[in-house]
Amino acid sequence: MEEFIKQNLIKAKSFHPHFEKALNEMLLAGGKRFRPKLLLAVVKAYNPLLIDNAKYAAFAIELIHTYSLIHDDLPSMDNASLRRGHPTLHITYDEVTAILVGDALNTYAFEVLSKAPLHNDVKVELIKILSENAGPNGMVLGQAIDCYFENEKLNLDELKFLHLNKTGKLIAASLKMGAIIVNKNDLAEKLYDFGLKLGLLFQIQDDLLDLLDESKTGKSSGIDINKNTFVTLVGEKEAIEKADKVAKEIEKELNSFDENLKKELKTLLERYLYRHKN
Ligand code: IPE
Ligand code: IPE
Ligand code: MG
Ligand code: MG
Ligand code: MG
Repeated sequence: MEEFIKQNLIKAKSFHPHFEKALNEMLLAGGKRFRPKLLLAVVKAYNPLLIDNAKYAAFAIELIHTYSLIHDDLPSMDNASLRRGHPTLHITYDEVTAILVGDALNTYAFEVLSKAPLHNDVKVELIKILSENAGPNGMVLGQAIDCYFENEKLNLDELKFLHLNKTGKLIAASLKMGAIIVNKNDLAEKLYDFGLKLGLLFQIQDDLLDLLDESKTGKSSGIDINKNTFVTLVGEKEAIEKADKVAKEIEKELNSFDENLKKELKTLLERYLYRHKN
């Protein structure tokens, strides 16, 4: 995946002194590439020959995710100065650059997806899944709620709704898109529901990361104090217990998948299911 990203960096030649560099900076800064890996794990389980073609879709998701991080760090949102071990774009450049780079990654994601060497009907379905889950009824909605309700406590059902939207849906979409690429339409919904649960776990764990040192997480920490997170609403101990509970459910659900899929997902998720304990 890293090689693919490097070969498909965004080109925007002009006399702007730093826009092209800024466009690619957060992509090159690294990140776990969790969502692309999920998509590719499903493809590998059912049709490894399609891996190279599927990388376009995996990259599209990573572009959307990276744009969401760039905007999430803006002063008007989480006001974070460190991301993926690097200063955030509004720190290195300015807010205008960070906003426009986010916009560009968002649109570039769909350019990449439209150019994927996959059947057109598959691509339309992928565009539908990605846009539905990233947009006004997915990640963006979650972010809107996250920011609007700063300084105001949500109840636990509302917190779950927030987490499922801002984080769960893009993770669920990654698995579902993998299923669509390998023509496993029957599996797509099951994987989507599994992904929502995985996304909830991922965000509870992320809430716990805010308690750690920045040198460990590579991103600004201690900034969730006025936010609605599992840590701020129920405390660290209960957040860990909740993560344990969801991780156990996920482990159990993993066993209901086909052997190959189970194997691929177990290998990938090994490092993630209990990362709140590391
Ligand atoms: C961080 O996502 C933001 C959330 C949605 C929890 P990741 O933890 O996947 O961040 P990177 O991509 O590895 O930097
Ligand atoms: C962000 O949640 C979710 C996104 C859609 C980017 P957080 O605000 O908790 O993510 P981090 O902790 O900054 O990575
Ligand atoms: Mg945020
Ligand atoms: Mg944030
Ligand atoms: Mg966080």
